[in-house]
Amino acid sequence: MIDAFKTEVANGLNSNPKTLPSKYFYNAIGDALFVEIMNLPEYYLTRSELDIFKNKTEDVINALQINLNSHFDLIELGAGDGLKTKELLKSLVKQDYKFNYLPVDISSNALHLLEQDLSKTLPNLSVKTQQGDYFQILASLKENNTPKVILFLGSNIGNMNDERAAKFIYNLGANLKPGDQLLLGVDLIKSKAIVLPAYDDSKGVTAKFNLNLLHRINEELDGDFNLNTFKHQPEYDEKEGIAKSYIASTIDQTVTIKAIGKSYDFKAGEKIHTEISRKYNDALVQKIITNTDFKLTTKILDSKAYFADYILTRH
Ligand code: AVJ
Repeated sequence: MIDAFKTEVANGLNSNPKTLPSKYFYNAIGDALFVEIMNLPEYYLTRSELDIFKNKTEDVINALQINLNSHFDLIELGAGDGLKTKELLKSLVKQDYKFNYLPVDISSNALHLLEQDLSKTLPNLSVKTQQGDYFQILASLKENNTPKVILFLGSNIGNMNDERAAKFIYNLGANLKPGDQLLLGVDLIKSKAIVLPAYDDSKGVTAKFNLNLLHRINEELDGDFNLNTFKHQPEYDEKEGIAKSYIASTIDQTVTIKAIGKSYDFKAGEKIHTEISRKYNDALVQKIITNTDFKLTTKILDSKAYFADYILTRH
């Protein structure tokens, strides 16, 4: 783990322009900051998708065309706190659908917390937590013939560029069987006035979240980034539909990372690219599923049409 982090940091800071991978946001501090982000007034994404799961639950269930009598597996990639999923689970349990809920996550801690919570809120639900890599787990589940519904929510796919997203969905299809379904939650392209504040909140939580990457490098790779001379700098291009986060150096400076054994020069204003958050429309979703085994069957919007859950069926 440490080695992969070191290698990717070294490669990213050696690149021109400099980059750092967003997946390293999520240590204990980053996880807690992301929970704070989800509760920010500016971060509409979570509330919008919760609106779908709360108020369009029947639309979701109908679109999935699940048979009341046959057993299925509901597999969630990236378990999180289950806030949105619980709305769907509640409905399915109440209507006596026969299914197991399989939350998949790298973090055994996240899975444990979710399992404890569900044992209280939905004691009759069958939960089978799966700790590990998404694709390894899906491959291991491919053996059985139980129909599957995969949940990939929260616009988590937005952190991938379109090429990687297409590959990701292709790989999901390769680990599923005809008739299996994918519920893909994505944030939609909309005005800068709405999107940009979600990545530039007034309390500075997103800034802390972004700068935590430098803090991690200091802690884990013995770096000497001075967090007071770097700042969070988000951008959003409405036409392109991609929010981009950067960390900008506010002065000319040199940073040393001892574990890598190298120093890096920064010019005042120079940026490190840390994250993309892609926003979608129908054409972009069609584009990323073009060379996959999925067909788009349904699109379900929240009341403000900020966010969409697309249902894709494996053919
Ligand atoms: C977890 C990838 C959906 O891109 O909106 C939130 C992460 N970054 N604020 C997103 C994030 C900055 C988030 N996703």
